[in-house]
Amino acid sequence: AVERTLSIIKPDATRRNLTGKINARFEEKGLRIVGQKRLQLTRAQAEAFYGVHRERSFFGELVDFMISGPVVVQVLEGENAVLANREIMGATNPANAEPGTIRADFAESIEANSVHGSDSLENANREVSFFFSEIEIAG
Ligand code: CMP
Repeated sequence: AVERTLSIIKPDATRRNLTGKINARFEEKGLRIVGQKRLQLTRAQAEAFYGVHRERSFFGELVDFMISGPVVVQVLEGENAVLANREIMGATNPANAEPGTIRADFAESIEANSVHGSDSLENANREVSFFFSEIEIAG
């Protein structure tokens, strides 16, 4: 089925001018960028977005990193978009990511791993709604 998933190009990637190269990966694999904006997240916004990780040991560092520079938040649309994007990104830890994936090719570390993507359709709907109103998405 056609799905929408939330993608974030993280500060390590915007800092290195990689947004175009990352977007090309999505488009080459058939995902359509149907919503996109560049934001400087506030601490409160980053904490709210990653709220499910609040109890994890890496939460504080994750939030610090996510507000260390601008991010590009995007809605990707396509057939099985949630899983398709996870395959395009590769494993969370770039050391474990398949060659040819965004994280294998661009990520600096498990924290500075260049992109975020929703991990389920349920979370995708929640995460898209966190950043976008329906008027900002054109499919
Ligand atoms: P992301 O898909 O954005 O979801 C949570 C993020 O936490 C993850 O990518 C990583 O960038 C970051 N993170 C930092 N340390 C860890 C860790 N030890 N395990 C998992 N995620 C981590």
